Amino acid sequence: MLERRFGALPDGTEVGLFTLTNDGGIEVSIATYGGIVTSLKVPDRDGRLADVVLGFESLDRYLEGHPYFGAIVGRYANRIGGASFDLDGRVYHLAANNGSHHLHGGMVGFDKALWSAQPRSTPDGPQLELQRVSEDGEEGYPGRLEVSVTYTLNRADELRIDFRATTDQPTHVNLTNHSYFNLAGAASGEILDHLVYLDADRFLPIDAGLIPTGELRHVGATPMDFRTPVAIGARIERADEQLRLASGYDHTWVLNREESRLSLAARVLEPTTGRVLEVLTTEPGVQFYTANFLDGSITGKEGAVYDRRCAFCLETQHFPDSPNRPEFPSTILRPGEVYETTTVYRFPVEP
Ligand code: GLA
Repeated sequence: MLERRFGALPDGTEVGLFTLTNDGGIEVSIATYGGIVTSLKVPDRDGRLADVVLGFESLDRYLEGHPYFGAIVGRYANRIGGASFDLDGRVYHLAANNGSHHLHGGMVGFDKALWSAQPRSTPDGPQLELQRVSEDGEEGYPGRLEVSVTYTLNRADELRIDFRATTDQPTHVNLTNHSYFNLAGAASGEILDHLVYLDADRFLPIDAGLIPTGELRHVGATPMDFRTPVAIGARIERADEQLRLASGYDHTWVLNREESRLSLAARVLEPTTGRVLEVLTTEPGVQFYTANFLDGSITGKEGAVYDRRCAFCLETQHFPDSPNRPEFPSTILRPGEVYETTTVYRFPVEP
């Protein structure tokens, strides 16, 4: 594993960048700032490497602000309606950083935190464990949360992410990685030809604030049906109420599973290169987002202009607004319990 200096925070604190490689030719770089996956190089069907995630070459560009490129998102990934919740009879107020709602952990979420890093070489491959403490009251959340996020580039050519957290008071936790993928290469423009499969019979319809209405709607006969692989662009412009509300895909799919066993949630194929991304997770949901909010105002690595729909995200997570939806799978973590989830990105190729 290679470690180099990525830059410094405004207060002078040094930020490191770790690069993990394996025999399969995969190379991933992760910053201690935000736990950000800054680059992820994977082979195509002819063994040609390309960086398939959006991001920047320098720390300064990340510090200027960006839409969570590659970052660890927490304490609660996705939205919490009205930026508040009631937990055990007490109301907690969070930052309203998305209209009247709370998004991705608030003003200074885990994506903007400096993590302490422990690089290791394990029998399974190079591993980087990132740790931090989210103090009681941080961004309005109760409880002192000890968090660890472990990236392993294993022998099966998988990037495995293990999330772990414990608390000293009841709180809500929902962690994810927010990588933006373009399997043709991060500088290749629109992702509309990528073919997407999602193992989900149902999705969560949203309201105008992108908050789930509470309904679990069957995907049958809707543009949300990805139970057989469909090009992202095939239906994205349809006159569909849900697509209109989100300006594209930006919804949670309810994964077909009874228990939280690590299993395939999504598979995406980029036909011209044969690159495939498979996402496995223990989580009950995945947010499939087609970068509808990118507008060409950000220029990233290799001088690429990041325009609308030049990437997609598959954010494995619990459902948005679960703290206000007792009928959704619970995101409550109590003292003595251990929050443990795993997500795996796999990169096979198709001939
Ligand atoms: C998530 C959300 C989107 C958007 C992006 C960040 O994917 O679902 O609505 O906020 O993060 O820009």
